[in-house]
Amino acid sequence: MKEKRSYVIAGNWKMNNNRSQTKGLITQIVPLVPQAGCEVVVCVPFTNLETAIKAVSGTNIKVGAQNVHFEKSGAYTGEISAEMLIEMGVEYVIIGHSERRQYFGETDETVNLRVKAALNAGLTVILCVGERLPDREKGLTNELVALQTKAALIGVTAQQLDKIVIAYEPVWAIGTGKTATSEQADEVCELIRSVIRDLYGDEKSDKMTIQYGGSMNAANAEELLSKPNVDGGLIGGASLKAKDFAEIISCAK
Ligand code: 13P
Repeated sequence: MKEKRSYVIAGNWKMNNNRSQTKGLITQIVPLVPQAGCEVVVCVPFTNLETAIKAVSGTNIKVGAQNVHFEKSGAYTGEISAEMLIEMGVEYVIIGHSERRQYFGETDETVNLRVKAALNAGLTVILCVGERLPDREKGLTNELVALQTKAALIGVTAQQLDKIVIAYEPVWAIGTGKTATSEQADEVCELIRSVIRDLYGDEKSDKMTIQYGGSMNAANAEELLSKPNVDGGLIGGASLKAKDFAEIISCAK
């Protein structure tokens, strides 16, 4: 099964690095990952996209944004459309990250609107789902993650699904140093795969790239990525250090 899928390792820089730091970090990453056995993506702040796109030119690294608005244009102060990202040469976008759900009022409904707008414009989506600690403690992980996944994909066609990567990010593991065990990660990634199977059938679910994210680092990546349902990582803190990010990438073959 796993050989049918491409690994994707994506760095989510969050609100870190200015433009000169962006150029510097990408310049350090480039020579470390030319033989990567996976897709390599860096998701940078909007203001660094142009710098990042120039810095990865001619390399195997792709650039992503960390959010996108669902309308094409109009009176939406402070927002950026999918068409604007495409025009710049952006290829990926993270949608529904838990920090956006927690701090910026993102809901399953707006996540779904953003997913459809991004796909229609031609972006590849990294769709984030994951439970909070109280949800896990109440035994609600599977129901919640299944609901988030289904809600995000309403109206998404089987063909469009090829441009979606799903990232399972348990909220309690993000930035806390508390990684999910590889068994916990695999179990929920398998659950997500079964949701895709129910919605789109076996072939699509076998091909779906499902990442784990949450305190993934150079020391635990190999174990997490060896699991049958884990096909990559969405990396926060460790993606800000070239050597650590490259070590994680070397585990994804
Ligand atoms: P950390 O790797 O810093 O825990 O962040 C994970 C994350 O939120 C990636 O989107």
